[in-house]
Amino acid sequence: MACAPFPAAVAIRPLRESRRARSGALLVQAAVLVAVSLHAAGAAAQTQEPVELVDQQHCMFCHTSDAPFLAPSFHQIAQRYRDQPNASTMLEEKLRHGGKVHWGDMSMPLPADRGGPLSAEDARTLVQWVLSQ
Ligand code: HEC
Repeated sequence: MACAPFPAAVAIRPLRESRRARSGALLVQAAVLVAVSLHAAGAAAQTQEPVELVDQQHCMFCHTSDAPFLAPSFHQIAQRYRDQPNASTMLEEKLRHGGKVHWGDMSMPLPADRGGPLSAEDARTLVQWVLSQ
């Protein structure tokens, strides 16, 4: 057969390559570990989630922290308002009483339709948490 020499050459190469690939995989694992611990350190800086309020107002029904779904992600919102000093006052007001739509054309339901009235203090807690993401 004319192509008989090839399979032998092919059989040797995978052995060498798999050894190299294995040490490569170790490096990748190390990098992932570093990335995960960095991420954990970053998460610690984030304002703690006010779980009960978030549940009561069903925020996560439409929002996620980092993936736009029915609504902009909290990460996108935080990015957008990062350099605007009056943003939190505007957002607190909007969470409590509604207001102009800033994303797409679907508006956010008012507190009564989300789970009950929202105090100024609770609105502030929620907005601080959103803007820390
Ligand atoms: C029924 C779906 C829904 C629920 C529940 C919901 N949102 Fe939203 N939210 C939206 C939509 C849609 C927008 C984008 C519309 C807009 O610009 O007002 C939005 C926008 C926002 C914004 C940005 C507003 C702006 O003017 O840029 C913030 C902050 C926000 N939501 C926080 C929250 C918080 C906190 C909760 C829970 C208390 C919550 N949302 C619950 C749908 C929802």
